[in-house]
Amino acid sequence: MQTQMLVDEAVEALQSQIDDTAIIACSGGVDSTVAAVLAHRAVGSLLHCVYVDTGLMRKHESGEVAGIFADLGIELEVVDASERFLSNLAGITEPEAKRMVIGEQFIRVFEAEQAQCGAKFLIQGTIAPDWIESGGGERDVIKSHHNVGGLPDDVNLVIVEPLREFYKDEVRAIARELGIASSERQPFPGPGLAVRILGEITPDRVTACREACHIVETQLQAAAAEGKCELPWQYFAALLPVKSVGVHGDARVHGETVVVRAVTSLDGMSASYSPIPHDILAAISTEITNSLKGQVNRVVYDITHKPPGTIEWE
Ligand code: XMP
Repeated sequence: MQTQMLVDEAVEALQSQIDDTAIIACSGGVDSTVAAVLAHRAVGSLLHCVYVDTGLMRKHESGEVAGIFADLGIELEVVDASERFLSNLAGITEPEAKRMVIGEQFIRVFEAEQAQCGAKFLIQGTIAPDWIESGGGERDVIKSHHNVGGLPDDVNLVIVEPLREFYKDEVRAIARELGIASSERQPFPGPGLAVRILGEITPDRVTACREACHIVETQLQAAAAEGKCELPWQYFAALLPVKSVGVHGDARVHGETVVVRAVTSLDGMSASYSPIPHDILAAISTEITNSLKGQVNRVVYDITHKPPGTIEWE
């Protein structure tokens, strides 16, 4: 079907479903941005767009997302919920348990918004892989996506998911059709850095993971701009609770490990690791260990495809 027809159909479907105020959860990613633009076309002033700063966002993310929505001419409320997320995640190390906490906290934030604006609906940018990997249709649960399997049972909002049947490449085509400049933005998971921090989520470990992700992004974007490699589909760092012995100058260091991950994919359902040239990996490794001296003393590169790995580490 032609993309313009998909847009028209989605707008009509939203118009027939939504007859009252609707909150939309906007992360700045392409899925929720497309959902927001469609919903804005469909119901205009009934829409209340909310960006939740979970404290698990990438460097400069909140400002960038505000910029994306300012460019689109859609009003966006920014809610700083970092304290709520980080305190509820304290001490939790099991990946699915983290995802349950995150799914629930998002809903509690939206309920607080609902109390203010009287919303009846919650629009989410859920796409097909989110519910497939969350165990939809009698499948095994690979990981409970925060917006599907991670939702609590007692949600007091009617959930509307206009992109539920689409895959990432199709959503990107719709984004281009809608003139969304951030259509090619690399995916960033709703649970944010939480799924990239293995083990306990502490403020120091969040800061380290955020810095390592920033280094991987800036180095690979610069290398791609100079024609040294192709920009991968997704590229980031994860922090592992694996300590090894290292040395800085004359001093012994017992620090954690950063794993660099870069993959090519079409829709995130399967992926191949990207063969990044070694000199670029070496520059990334040096910058990470210099920036995180004492905390991280070893950097490794993940050469696993999906399957058998997944893209994120949790
Ligand atoms: P995996 O790790 O399952 O990831 O191979 C496939 C794609 O989905 C993203 N991802 C998520 N996105 N909520 C999201 O919005 C989630 O809970 C979630 N978990 C993974 C991941 O970054 C990759 O692009």
